[in-house]
Amino acid sequence: MKHYLRLFIILFIFSGCAEVENTQESTWGTIQEKILNTSCINCHVSGSTMTKQSGLDLSKKNSYSQLVGVSPKNIAAKKDGLVIVSTEGGMKGLSKSYLWEKINAYDREHFLSDHPEYGQMMPPGQNFLTDGQLQFVRAWIEAGAPEEGVVATEELLLDSNKYSPPEFTPLKPPKKGIQLHLKPFEVMPNFEREFFQYTNLDVSEDIYANRIQIEMRPGSHHFILYSFIKNINPSDLPEFDVPRELRYENGVYNIQTLRSMQYHEFFNGTQWPRMDYKLPPGVAFRLDSNFGLDQNSHYVNRTDSIMIGEVYTNIHTVDKSEVLHEAKVINWSNQNIFLPPKKITTLNKSFYTNKSIYVGQLFSHAHEKMKEFSVIIKGGTRDGELVYWTDDWQHPPIMSYDPPIKLNSGEGLQIITTYDNPLNEAVTFGFRSTDEMMILFGWYYE
Ligand code: HEC
Repeated sequence: MKHYLRLFIILFIFSGCAEVENTQESTWGTIQEKILNTSCINCHVSGSTMTKQSGLDLSKKNSYSQLVGVSPKNIAAKKDGLVIVSTEGGMKGLSKSYLWEKINAYDREHFLSDHPEYGQMMPPGQNFLTDGQLQFVRAWIEAGAPEEGVVATEELLLDSNKYSPPEFTPLKPPKKGIQLHLKPFEVMPNFEREFFQYTNLDVSEDIYANRIQIEMRPGSHHFILYSFIKNINPSDLPEFDVPRELRYENGVYNIQTLRSMQYHEFFNGTQWPRMDYKLPPGVAFRLDSNFGLDQNSHYVNRTDSIMIGEVYTNIHTVDKSEVLHEAKVINWSNQNIFLPPKKITTLNKSFYTNKSIYVGQLFSHAHEKMKEFSVIIKGGTRDGELVYWTDDWQHPPIMSYDPPIKLNSGEGLQIITTYDNPLNEAVTFGFRSTDEMMILFGWYYE
C-alpha cells in the first residue's frame, strides 16, 4: 500500500513538472502578452487610423506573422533594406530589425537626427518601454526571433527603469528663420508660474514656417505661442518684452492678463520639454506680419526651492513660393467640464467641419486627472474610426497622419476623455494643473 502511494506521489510530481514545462510561455508569447498587449494595441487595434497607417494590427493572434520577416510599410526603412523583425539573429538581426530602431529609446538621438523619415519612436510620445522590456525583445531578436521556445529569461522584465531624454540643451538658431528665447526666469517654491511675454518678430511681410522646434528647461507644464486676432484694437496689444503674470503670488488672477487672452489666436505649442514639428513639404503655417508672438510659459514647481525655467523656439521659414497648402491650427476645446468628487467620468464632444479639410496632425491636452483620451471620426464612411489614443496626460504623443485624414463637410472628430477625480470636491475647467482641460490640438489644410 505504502509502495503504491509513493509511486502515486512520484507520478503526481512528475506529471506536475511536465505540466509546468508545457505551459511555460514562449518568449514570443510573453512579448505579445506583456509588451504588445499592454503598450501597443490601444493604437494598433483593428480598424484604427494608426493600424491603417502602419499596416500593423497587433491585437490579433497573428501578430508574429505580421512582424517577423516582413518588409516595413515605411518607405525609407524598406529602401534601407530593413525588415520589421529579422530572423538572422545576433547583432546582424538586431541591426536589420526596424522594430528595434523604433523602440530602442537609448538610440533616440540617432533615430531622430539620422532617420527623420522613419516616423516616430514606439510607443509615440515619451512613453518609452522599460529597460527590461527592451532587453527582453533584444534577446529574442538576437536569438533569431523564434515563434516557439524560451530564449530570454522573464526576470529581465523586472527591470522597470526607463530611458529619460537628456535635459535641456539650448537650440542653435535656425539656418533660415527666427529664434525666440525666454531667458532664464524663476519659479517660486510650491508655485505654478504662468506668464505671457510679447515678442516682436521684426518682419515686414507675412512669413511661412514649416518647422518649429521648442526646447525648455525641465519643469514646464506647457508652452504656447499666440498671435492675435485680426480685429484687435492696436492699443489692446501688450507691450513687447514685459512678462505678464497670469496669477499673483497669492494665487489671485491678474485681470489685465486675462483681458489680453481673449484676443489670442493660437499659433503653436507643446507640453513636451522638447518638440520638433515638421510639416510635410509644401505645407506651412503663415504668420501675420502685423503681430509679434505672445509667448506663454507655464511651470509647475512642487518643490521647496526655486526652479529655473527657460524656453527656446526656432521658427524655420520657407519662401512663400514653396507653399502649396497653408496649415491651419486645430484648437478644439471642451470647456464644459464637471467632474464629480470620487468618481470616474467620461466626457465627449464632437467638432464638425463645414468644408473639406485634411488633418495632418493631432495631439491632446489635458491635466493630471485624465486617464484616457481618444478621438474618433464622426460621420462619413469612416464613422467611428479611432484616430488618436493616449493615456499619458503629461507627454501625449503628437500623431502625424500620412496621408492626412480627409473630413468632408458635415463630418468631424469626437473627443472622448475619461477622468478620475479622487478628491472630495468637484473639478471643473480651468488653467491650473489641478483644474482640468479637454483640448485637441493639431493642424489641417483645406
Ligand atoms: C499612440 C498610438 C501608437 C502606439 C501606442 C503605438 N504605435 Fe506603433 N505606430 C503608430 C503609428 C501612427 C504608426 C505609423 C507612423 C510611424 O511609423 O511613426 C506606427 C508605426 C509602427 C511601426 C512601423 C510599421 C511599418 O511597417 O512602417 C512599428 C514596427 C510599430 N508601430 C510598433 C509599435 C509597437 C511595438 C508599439 C508598442 C511598444 C507601438 N507601435 C505603439 C501608432 C502607435
